[in-house]
Amino acid sequence: MNSKIALLEQKQAEALLGGGQKRIDAQHKKGKLTARERLHFLLDEGSFEEIGMMVTHRSKDFGLEKEQYLGDGVVTGYGTVHGRLVYVFSQDFTVFGGSLSETHAEKICKIMDLALKNGAPLIGLNDSGGARIQEGVVSLGGYADIFYRNVRASGVIPQLSAIMGPCAGGAVYSPAITDFILMVENTSYMFVTGPNVVKTVTHEEVTSEELGGAMTHASKSGVTHFACANEIEAITNLKQILSYVPQNCEENAPSVPYESNGSELRTQLNSIIPENANQPYDIREVIENVIDTDSFFEVHKHFAENIVVGFARLAGRSIGIVANQPAVLAGVLDIHSSTKAARFVRFCDCFNIPLLVFEDVPGFLPGTDQEWNAIITNGAKLLYAFSEATVPRITVITRKAYGGAYDVMNSKHIGADMNYAWPSAEIAVMGAKGAAEIIFKNEISTAANKDEKWKEKEAEYQTMFANPYRAAERGFIDEVIKPEQTREKLIRAFKMLENKADKLPKKKHGNIPL
Ligand code: HXC
Repeated sequence: MNSKIALLEQKQAEALLGGGQKRIDAQHKKGKLTARERLHFLLDEGSFEEIGMMVTHRSKDFGLEKEQYLGDGVVTGYGTVHGRLVYVFSQDFTVFGGSLSETHAEKICKIMDLALKNGAPLIGLNDSGGARIQEGVVSLGGYADIFYRNVRASGVIPQLSAIMGPCAGGAVYSPAITDFILMVENTSYMFVTGPNVVKTVTHEEVTSEELGGAMTHASKSGVTHFACANEIEAITNLKQILSYVPQNCEENAPSVPYESNGSELRTQLNSIIPENANQPYDIREVIENVIDTDSFFEVHKHFAENIVVGFARLAGRSIGIVANQPAVLAGVLDIHSSTKAARFVRFCDCFNIPLLVFEDVPGFLPGTDQEWNAIITNGAKLLYAFSEATVPRITVITRKAYGGAYDVMNSKHIGADMNYAWPSAEIAVMGAKGAAEIIFKNEISTAANKDEKWKEKEAEYQTMFANPYRAAERGFIDEVIKPEQTREKLIRAFKMLENKADKLPKKKHGNIPL
């Protein structure tokens, strides 16, 4: 028996070395951790159970049968993060550059099937040269097997992807289907075709970093939700996301114990909105003063900064926040902010995370660029996402709620449960200046002093409509509240909505305007 145990130990030691010490050193030299080191930092100490450590590839072409590595370039298994079960795969760049063979794909699929059947999050740590070139179509088939499972698992279990090295070609589509992507600055990149192909086809000269680095995708394309300074930061963010989300779509959003220290009034909120309605302010100041201390975890921070989305806790309970940001482009809704918010709303709704909306929006952004790039279809995504969300939904209008944006931003009419407005709210079809120019055009054109008449009519419209009371009279606003009361009101309202049960009409699935 002893010799048999020794053989097992020898094989285990071999597997732990992946592609060998030389390649591990090369990985470290690039400033990257190995697949196993990443898992060590991600999972609770001693919790990792590996599955498929002895798996090897079956390829016999190009002399590959002589090059076998136990595990075949991906470490798979399960463990816990803060005591909660997760399934993981971590690609090992030291084995054929982490490239995906038939068996490598089978290992990932096995983990995905277990995650789906057992209702726990799936975390993929990606570091791969793409399809195992020597294997050809079986590798492509392996990718498609993974994509298919990503889609099946979508909305059932949270799926998170950290990109910690190359991720190119069709390989990008598995992370793209998952709920959140995290990239590491300077060591990871994602693109459908690399700089060389780009140069041949479009004659553009571009580096990997410019084309598909972390900041590119965090700020320009929005493909990644997080650009992390290093791998440890990426792993910390992964854990942070998990702390706000349930294990699967059948469970409630998690909460942490909360004890009120007496008053929930936040008087600081009374002085955030500037006297002049055209002055910007940072909506994060409002958020921070309403939620539990230091609980805001912003998602998609560098993309479409005119809207802010992220997780937070209110009286210990997980919530998702969507907030117009008056400090950027006056908080206007455009294509990117609509799609950013829509995807976040849908994630929260999939996983029973109540939604809180802060609204200060002057409307949709006008112009040919927006129209020709389909602000109609893209704006409709946000409208659709809110309308189909069945989680508890509350809106607080802090200032402007103009035009179609009033309807879209979780209005009563599209199913919000509670709608509050601050006394500074302006709820109308459009701003006073624009409105006066249209409805008093004739009256003004015949007036002796046109400038004075403009101002008078603008002020008239402002007084009549730039307030929350018209909407409150109709019941579109449930209560006009002092800013300082916001936290208390929200805690009570979310508690009141705790057992909300709402269902969409029976259907196969809706047809969101993609
Ligand atoms: C097999 C691969 C490989 C691959 C890398 N290696 N990519 N082996 N298949 N796809 C091996 C290398 O031969 C090398 O082996 C080791 O991994 C490390 O690679 P290096 O090139 O030395 O590393 P580096 O300089 O860091 O460059 C990394 C890289 C480069 C940028 C990823 O290796 C590369 O361009 N690889 C090919 C990428 C590619 O075109 N993949 C196919 C994309 S198409 P040794 O033995 O020297 O350690 C695709 C389709 C998917 O993926 C479609 C899904 C629908």
